[in-house]
Amino acid sequence: LRTAVEQGRALHRRAAELFFRCLREDTRARQAREYLSRRGLSDTVTVAFGLGYSPPGWDFLTERLVREGYAPEELEQFGLIVPRQGADGYYDRFRNRIMFPIFDAQGRPVAFGGRVLDDEIPKYLNSPETPLYKKGQHLYGLHKAGPAIREKGIAILVEGYMDVIACHQHDIPQAVASLGTAMTPEQGRLLLRYAPRVLICYDADRAGIEATVKAGEILTRLGAQIQVLTLPDGKDPDEFLQKHGASSFWQMADNAPAFFSFCYSRVASQYDLTTVAGKVAAVRELAPQLLIIPSAIEQEANIQWLAREIRLSEAAIMEELRGLSRNTK
Ligand code: CTP
Ligand code: MN
Ligand code: MN
Ligand code: MN
Ligand code: MN
Repeated sequence: LRTAVEQGRALHRRAAELFFRCLREDTRARQAREYLSRRGLSDTVTVAFGLGYSPPGWDFLTERLVREGYAPEELEQFGLIVPRQGADGYYDRFRNRIMFPIFDAQGRPVAFGGRVLDDEIPKYLNSPETPLYKKGQHLYGLHKAGPAIREKGIAILVEGYMDVIACHQHDIPQAVASLGTAMTPEQGRLLLRYAPRVLICYDADRAGIEATVKAGEILTRLGAQIQVLTLPDGKDPDEFLQKHGASSFWQMADNAPAFFSFCYSRVASQYDLTTVAGKVAAVRELAPQLLIIPSAIEQEANIQWLAREIRLSEAAIMEELRGLSRNTK
């Protein structure tokens, strides 16, 4: 007797295979194939990430998998089909979408993300939480990126499916995505099992920059060495790589500031640092980012750096921090 989890794995393996075959062979997938080639994806990388297609219509998966002996309740439990409202039967959750299997660290498909071929909303539809898949516990692409991250000692953290895939296509195999804009402590711990350094390269839009601060704080608490790469013109890594290629990417990565320095630049643009009041406000705003650094040595190095940058004594900054940490305890 197979457990629900084992059964779910078999189900995802089979569903991924059906979507994959559909993308490659089905006449209904012509637009999907055109869409992917228009976006510059190579066949190699499409295959490597097991991309597929769920055709329009309501029962592509339901019909096949039930015929193969899977129980509808089981398909429902794993979020692949949805019960009809006020009627018997089920329909496919994913219809007319490019299918991205989400793999666990061992490379087994455990969930799906599905993208529309146009500007419809939602752009991505993802599997719900299931016995196999808990949101915020997986990193997209880790099964492929893991060895490269270990070898290079640094991971590149991006937002989305297409960013990871574009990185791989441009020989940047150490990229993983937090999927969405919020990275969780579990994802952080998982990532740091592979390397102590992370280059955050989220989308250069407002949401991406806010998410960079959040992810940076989470990773700082976990003791990571973090740099931030902000791409020009609000681009994401996929758009940047397709347009400018990997060597421009690496040029920018070479100059990526440390996370604390990135935070400082943001704060420095908000206050007049030639005035005492501006300096006090800036130090107060940066204090949380200093206080969460677990290593006393690194914390001190950052305080020294800040003192020089902002033209204050280290002692004055330390005094300010002590006051703030007392008040928050
Ligand atoms: N996302 C999601 N659901 C949405 C929008 C986004 O799950 N409705 C997740 C996806 O994992 C997506 C990531 O957030 O890859 C980043 O979102 P976004 O930047 O909007 O999409 P891109 O990855 O840039 O996708 P594309 O290039 O295909 O537009
Ligand atoms: Mn985005
Ligand atoms: Mn994109
Ligand atoms: Mn994006
Ligand atoms: Mn290219």
